[in-house]
Amino acid sequence: MTEPLSFLHLTDPHLVPPGQRLYGLDPAERLRAAVADIVARHGPDGPAPAAFALLTGDLAHHGSAESYALLREILAPLPMPVHLLLGNHDDRAAFRAAFPRVPADRHGFVQSAFATPVGRFLLLDTHEPGTAAGALCARRLAWLAERLAEANDAPVFLALHHPPARSGIAGMDRIPLRDAEALWEVLAPHRARIRHMFHGHLHRPFAGSWRGIPFSSLRGTSHQVALDLAERTKVPGSHEPPAYALVRASAEEVAVHMHDFLDATARFHL
Ligand SMILES: [Fe+2]
Repeated sequence: MTEPLSFLHLTDPHLVPPGQRLYGLDPAERLRAAVADIVARHGPDGPAPAAFALLTGDLAHHGSAESYALLREILAPLPMPVHLLLGNHDDRAAFRAAFPRVPADRHGFVQSAFATPVGRFLLLDTHEPGTAAGALCARRLAWLAERLAEANDAPVFLALHHPPARSGIAGMDRIPLRDAEALWEVLAPHRARIRHMFHGHLHRPFAGSWRGIPFSSLRGTSHQVALDLAERTKVPGSHEPPAYALVRASAEEVAVHMHDFLDATARFHL
């Protein structure tokens, strides 16, 4: 058995400019609480050090420069690299102006690759202006195909805001990853070495497999989407507790722990 690599998955902070609230909550306050919890638990000297964090999109609710500046400030105390992805609520130009060092592909999409001891991570940009659905156009998919080809037989982990799998929540299934079929055409020849896909967008714990590829999504750091399959028109919101995930990946396994970082219930020994 190989030693697992630990890393974190956070998603959908939906920051709004300082002083504003969203759905009755303060997204900045909640993201600060997540960061404080991570610093205490997952720093290099903490009980469970994490190598990096993925933040899978909807960073800013209205994609404003003020919100991205706030994001930069809130994430600053994190002791590990944070890989930022875009979601439908983001604004690519405002994001890139606020985070000029975040890598992008040659067309300006916020897509990048990085190596880890357990495999190569490929981060995709599904943001498409003017729609809440996700897109992977020919240029973005060509980038993915190139990265998959150059990785030879190395294991691959994918991260993208919009999951290709349908949830059954009608309001979310109306804003899906539009290009799921085209994504599959690119992934299919490499299916056996794709270890896991990490998503945002759903604002709920949502895991399974899509055409044999395991995936997981989780609650956002602020507001949530309710498990309401009867609501056919609107997106059902909820104030279920926010979470981040601790992932432990080795050559043999990928284990995803959902952690409710505001939970203050009793701790005891069983
Ligand atoms: Fe979101």
